[in-house]
Amino acid sequence: IEKYKGKNLLTLLDYSSEEIKELLDFSILLKKYQKEGVPHPLLAGKTLAMIFEKSSTRTRVSFEVGMNQLGGSALFLSSKDSQLGRGEPISDTAQVLSRYVDGIMIRTHGHEIIEELAKFSTIPVINALTEDFHPCQALADILTIYEVKGTFEGIKTVYVGDGNNVAHSFLIACAKVGMDVAIATPKGYEPKAWIMKEIEAICNETGAKLLITNDPIEAVTGADVIYTDVWTSMGHEEETAKRLEAFNEFQVNKALASHAKDDYIFLHCLPAHRGEEVTVDVIDGEHSYIFDQAENRLHAQKAVLVALMGDAK
Ligand code: CP
Ligand code: NVA
Repeated sequence: IEKYKGKNLLTLLDYSSEEIKELLDFSILLKKYQKEGVPHPLLAGKTLAMIFEKSSTRTRVSFEVGMNQLGGSALFLSSKDSQLGRGEPISDTAQVLSRYVDGIMIRTHGHEIIEELAKFSTIPVINALTEDFHPCQALADILTIYEVKGTFEGIKTVYVGDGNNVAHSFLIACAKVGMDVAIATPKGYEPKAWIMKEIEAICNETGAKLLITNDPIEAVTGADVIYTDVWTSMGHEEETAKRLEAFNEFQVNKALASHAKDDYIFLHCLPAHRGEEVTVDVIDGEHSYIFDQAENRLHAQKAVLVALMGDAK
């Protein structure tokens, strides 16, 4: 784990295919330890500061529980109740926290905020969601696919819906491990162009196929994995009505899923809006692995925490 020492996890673009696969292998091992009750206090005595500028259930609980299981502790800092919410500069916060704790996890708005935090921190910084990326989610996503399908080879993953943070990270992760990727969004809600350029370059390297379209049926045809996320992300609530209309044709329902392979799996990062981006029969049906996926947040993040914050052996 020496090579990860002092590294940040701001986006998976900064990680090679080999590093991502290594983190997945390590997640699987840590999951086994936890299931079998084998103690693994690899972060004994270490503390993670967790800054939340947006709501969370899974991310907060999985990071906090993960630190506990690793023998360390986690500190919940809501921006509302800390000096960040009263305008203390992120650069000062970074330098102060660096004197107390061993790693910082942050969920924030613009991606430039986490870049600023990382610039002024002398300890690892982990992205727990920004406007542009959600890398910890994507690691759990591909771990889930690997567990269910047993391979990444020949697997076609499809994201349907908003070209948001979750979409960006999911496509990057899938492309990095060599899966074919497709994304279908309404016009005007495509993923960011610079990020799609990066994904295209990754696909060229790994040989993965890439399809970007405004036609959900075209995207879903032959899919092994269908992924969706909310139509309105945190911070965009005022656009809700407009988005409901724009995304109307992009609901993951049985009719759309009928174009996928018979044994397709459905994934969603959660929280979900049943009846909007996905119907009840799909998200609560036999193809859905959403709770395995949510559980895997814990195992994938523990691997990241140990890799970044652990003492190299
Ligand atoms: N998927 C996810 O990040 O969930 P939370 O917002 O509950 O953390
Ligand atoms: N795209 C969603 C993900 C929530 C986990 C958001 O940013 O609100």
